[in-house]
Amino acid sequence: MKSPIHIAVTGAAGQISYSLLFRLAAGALFGPNQPIVLHLLEITSALPVLEGVVMELKDCVNPLLHGIVVTDDPRVAFKNVHYAFLVGARPRGPGMERKDLLEVNAEIFAVQGRALSDVACRDVKVLVTGNPANTNTLIALKNAPNLGPENFSAMSRLDHNRAINQLAEKCGVLTTDIKNIAIWGNHSPTQYPDLTHAKVKGQDVLPLVGKSWFINDFIPTIQQRGAVVIKTRGQSSAASAAKAAVDQMKSWASGTEEGDWVSMGVLSDGSYGIAKDLIFSFPVTIQDGKVSIVKGLTIDDVSKQRMRLSEAELKEEKASIKHLLP
Ligand code: NAD
Ligand code: LMR
Repeated sequence: MKSPIHIAVTGAAGQISYSLLFRLAAGALFGPNQPIVLHLLEITSALPVLEGVVMELKDCVNPLLHGIVVTDDPRVAFKNVHYAFLVGARPRGPGMERKDLLEVNAEIFAVQGRALSDVACRDVKVLVTGNPANTNTLIALKNAPNLGPENFSAMSRLDHNRAINQLAEKCGVLTTDIKNIAIWGNHSPTQYPDLTHAKVKGQDVLPLVGKSWFINDFIPTIQQRGAVVIKTRGQSSAASAAKAAVDQMKSWASGTEEGDWVSMGVLSDGSYGIAKDLIFSFPVTIQDGKVSIVKGLTIDDVSKQRMRLSEAELKEEKASIKHLLP
């Protein structure tokens, strides 16, 4: 039997974790032959609820789950972990934008960045889901002097998956027939879900779906999907967020498929003229755990403008939390 991989999950008593933890315990990330140990972090007042979740995890008798650490101390939670899902943060309610959460959530990521820097494995992969995910990732990264940008990513996979689903429904094909979707920018209504490079069964998408559908239906649907789920379900997305978190971490750990890419919020290196030092979603390929921004894509003027808009929003968010950037 292989030795277990240690995975931290924050916000472990919350609604995303209620789906995420059971997927992880069932082997969703590394398959049926890789045992794991879950390190579960919560705030002190939520530990009793977490206790109930732990009972259920144990009652599932998952053979891959070789241990569970439960704590309210980030330094205990992140000790020697290989993977960290930073989910714990307040979700928005109806009528709020994700950036309205910055004030309440930002400090969490400064504290957790420092703890990861001090005690996690040096090659830890940290995926930030808690909103506003891009700027929270920047805060964590900047507070982790012993780690590097390659250790951190923000979740844009839910937007990527939403885009695949909308396109597959429109074209009447399977989601697996869709390739080369790109989400650019912030996980917010300024994000740019881009179909200009997308393919359906190897064919260019735009001539199939038409520019009007792309601009007037597809883009606003993806940009507003989170808000519409909140309005319809009464709570923010949870199962789809958990699935997206697993998908993003799995791509990061196992690599992307030949001929396709995934979308991921990473530290900008200036590609496509986007300011450095922002966590911006780009199309990326991944090999042996190394993430590379896809270079050289043709970007038309309208696409460029949309990317600039999201860049401007990320700059504003960054300015509003500059006291947390050492
Ligand atoms: P939730 O309120 O159900 O759960 C959040 C949990 O985090 C709570 O149990 C809370 O006690 C815990 N928590 C708060 N502060 C913490 C801290 N300092 N350390 C550890 N745990 C802490 O919320 P949820 O629905 O699970 O959503 C969690 C976050 O994920 C929200 O910010 C939400 O907006 C975000 N989200 C992001 C995406 C995305 O695509 N990036 C998708 C869905 C949700
Ligand atoms: C989502 O996209 O579903 C999440 O970010 C939750 C939200 O606030 O929209």
